[in-house]
Amino acid sequence: MQLNVKTSKPYEIFIERGCLDSLGARCAALFPAGAKAAVISDSNVFPLYGERALASLRGEGFQPDFFVFPAGEASKQLSTVAQMLGFLAERGLTRSDFLVALGGGVTGDMAGFAAACYLRGVRFVQVPTSLLAQVDSSVGGKTAVDLPQGKNLAGAFHQPALVLIDPDTLETLPPLFFADGMGEVIKYGCIRSRALFETLRGADDLAPLMESILYDCVDCKRVIVEHDEFDTGERLVLNFGHTLGHALEKAHGYTGLTHGAAVGIGMVLIARLGEHMGLTEAGTADAIAEVLRKYHLPVSDDASLDEVLRATALDKKGLGGDLRIVLLRAVGESFVHRLPRAEFAALCREALAEEAR
Ligand SMILES: NC(=O)c1ccc[n+]([C@@H]2O[C@H](COP(=O)([O-])OP(=O)(O)OC[C@H]3O[C@@H](n4cnc5c(N)ncnc54)[C@H](O)[C@@H]3O)[C@@H](O)[C@H]2O)c1
Repeated sequence: MQLNVKTSKPYEIFIERGCLDSLGARCAALFPAGAKAAVISDSNVFPLYGERALASLRGEGFQPDFFVFPAGEASKQLSTVAQMLGFLAERGLTRSDFLVALGGGVTGDMAGFAAACYLRGVRFVQVPTSLLAQVDSSVGGKTAVDLPQGKNLAGAFHQPALVLIDPDTLETLPPLFFADGMGEVIKYGCIRSRALFETLRGADDLAPLMESILYDCVDCKRVIVEHDEFDTGERLVLNFGHTLGHALEKAHGYTGLTHGAAVGIGMVLIARLGEHMGLTEAGTADAIAEVLRKYHLPVSDDASLDEVLRATALDKKGLGGDLRIVLLRAVGESFVHRLPRAEFAALCREALAEEAR
C-alpha cells in the first residue's frame, strides 16, 4: 500500500510486509548512487533489524554506517543528538548523503532533529518499528528532544524524504508498547473514522487486518498534516485526549502510566465532559472505554482530579487564559472547542460527579 503526502516537500509512504528489505531499492530512487547513509537506531532495535537495513543499503551501492544509542525516552536529549551530529561530521556526510531512522518514536524524533540540524538540513528516511511510530510519529515532520523543563521542547519541522512501514517488525514489539500504540490507533477512529473504530470494536484478531489498519491511521494523519503542516489549527485534533492525558502522565511523574494509557483515559474523560456539555452524542465515552479495555488499556485512574487539573494549567496547548480542547460530536467526528481554564475545571468536576452518581 502506498500514500503520497503533499506537504511543502512531498514524500511517499509505503506500508508493506517485509518492506524493510526494500529500503536500499527505495532509497536508490531518491539519493545519488554511492551516497553515505547513517542508520540511527536504538540498542533494542538495531540487534533485531540493523543488519537487514545495512545489507539492503549496501546491496544498492550505498555506503551505510550506524549510530546506536541506549533505548528509551531517557536518551531523547540534546546530548544524544550532539553525539549523533559528531558522528555524522566524523564520517564526513554531506548534503547528498542521508540518515535512516530505524526504530520507535524516540529514534525517529532524534534522527529527524539531527537531520534538520546537520549542515542546516539533510534528508532522512523513517523506518518506524513501533506501532506508535508507524501510525503517528514517523509521519508529519515533527522532530524533537526533551529538555529538563519538559517533553519535546526543542525541535524542528523537518519532513522525511520517505517512510517505509513494515508491519512484520511489530512481531517483536513488547506487548506493553503494542498496547501503547493501540491508544493512538483508537484515537484515529475516534477523531476521524467511525469505520476504523467499529473494525477495532468487532475484530477477533488484528493480525490479518494490520496492514489496512496502519493504512487507515496513516491516511488520517496524512490528511490532517497536509491541511496544517506547521500545527497552527486543524492538527490540534490529533491531540484528542491529550490535554488530560498529559496532565495524568505528569501527575504520575512520567512513570507507571504509559503515554497511550494516559491518552486513553484522557479520551474517556473528555468524551464524558462533551456528553455533560451536551456537545457529544450520549454513550460515546462508554463506547471508547469498551474498545480501550478490549486492547488492554485502562479507562480510569486514581490520581486526584485536582492534581490533574493543576497539571493542565501548564499544558502547552493552552492559548492565553483559554484552553483549546478537542471534543467529539460522535465517534469519528472531532472539533476544537475553546473555553476558559476555570470553566474547564468546573465542568470536569461536574461531569465526573455526574458519572459517579
Ligand atoms: N514526532 C511526532 O509527531 C510524535 C508523535 C507521537 C509521539 N512522539 C514521540 O514518540 C516517542 C514514543 O515513541 P515509541 O513509543 O515508539 O518509543 P520508543 O522509540 O522508545 O520505542 C518503544 C520501545 O520499543 C522498542 N522497540 C521499538 N520497535 C521495536 C520492535 N519492532 N521490536 C522490539 N522492540 C522495539 C524500543 O527499543 C523501545 O524500548 C516519544 O518520545 C514521543 O514524544 C512523536
